[in-house]
Amino acid sequence: MTVGAASFSLQDADSLGGDESILMRQRRDHARLDAMISRCQSEDLPADELDALWLDIVQLVFSHAFAEETVLWPLLRRVAPDGEALTRQVEEEHQEINELIARIERSPDDPRRAEWLQQAFALVRQDIRDEEDELLPHLRVAFDDRKLRRIGAAWEAVRATAPTRPHPGVPRRPPGNALRGVPLSVFDRLRDLAPGSGPAARRASLVAAGAVAAAGGAVVLAVRFARRTRS
Ligand SMILES: [Fe+2]
Ligand SMILES: [Fe+2]
Repeated sequence: MTVGAASFSLQDADSLGGDESILMRQRRDHARLDAMISRCQSEDLPADELDALWLDIVQLVFSHAFAEETVLWPLLRRVAPDGEALTRQVEEEHQEINELIARIERSPDDPRRAEWLQQAFALVRQDIRDEEDELLPHLRVAFDDRKLRRIGAAWEAVRATAPTRPHPGVPRRPPGNALRGVPLSVFDRLRDLAPGSGPAARRASLVAAGAVAAAGGAVVLAVRFARRTRS
C-alpha cells in the first residue's frame, strides 16, 4: 500500500470528502451489501424473504461494480503507481462473482446452491475489503474534496442505469464493458420490473427503452469524464 493511502473504513465523512463524495457513496453501498448478506445468513430467514433479498443483493452488486469498472478503475490506473495491478485484481474478483452468480441463476435446483451462495457472499465481502483497504484510498490521496464529489456524481449516474444481472461474457474494462453492457441493462431492468408478460411487461418495456437511452448517455459522459479528470 502507498504511504498515505490508508484504509478509509474507520475514517469520518469529513475526512472522506463529505457525504456526496465517491468514498462515502462506496462506503454506504458496501455497508448495505454487508447488512443484506448478514440477513441472508441468519438462521431464521423465511425462504420467500431469502429470494427477495438475494435479488436485491444481485442488483446492487452488479450495478455498483459496472459503475466502478466504467468510472473508477480507469481513474485509479492513472493516479496510483500500482493502479494497473490493483485494478486487474479487483476486475478478476468481479469476473469471478459474475461467473458464480450466473451459475447460481442458471441452476436454481442444484443441491450445491446453498454452498455457492456462501461462496458468492465471501467473494463480495473480499471485494469490499480490497476496495476499502487497497484501491479507494488512492483516490483520497489523489483528489481534493470537490473532485471526489464530482467522481461520486459520475459513478452514481452510471450505476443508476447499469446492468443489474451477471454478464460474465462482457469485458470488465471500457470501452468494451460499456459497448456490450449498456444494451444488456435494458433486458436486466425489464426482468427486474416485470418478470412475466402482459400489460405490466409492456409498460416495463417502455420504461426500459427510455432507460437504455439514458444509460448510453450517462456512460458516454462518464467515460469522457474519467478521461478528462486530472488529480
Ligand atoms: Fe465497491
Ligand atoms: Fe467491486
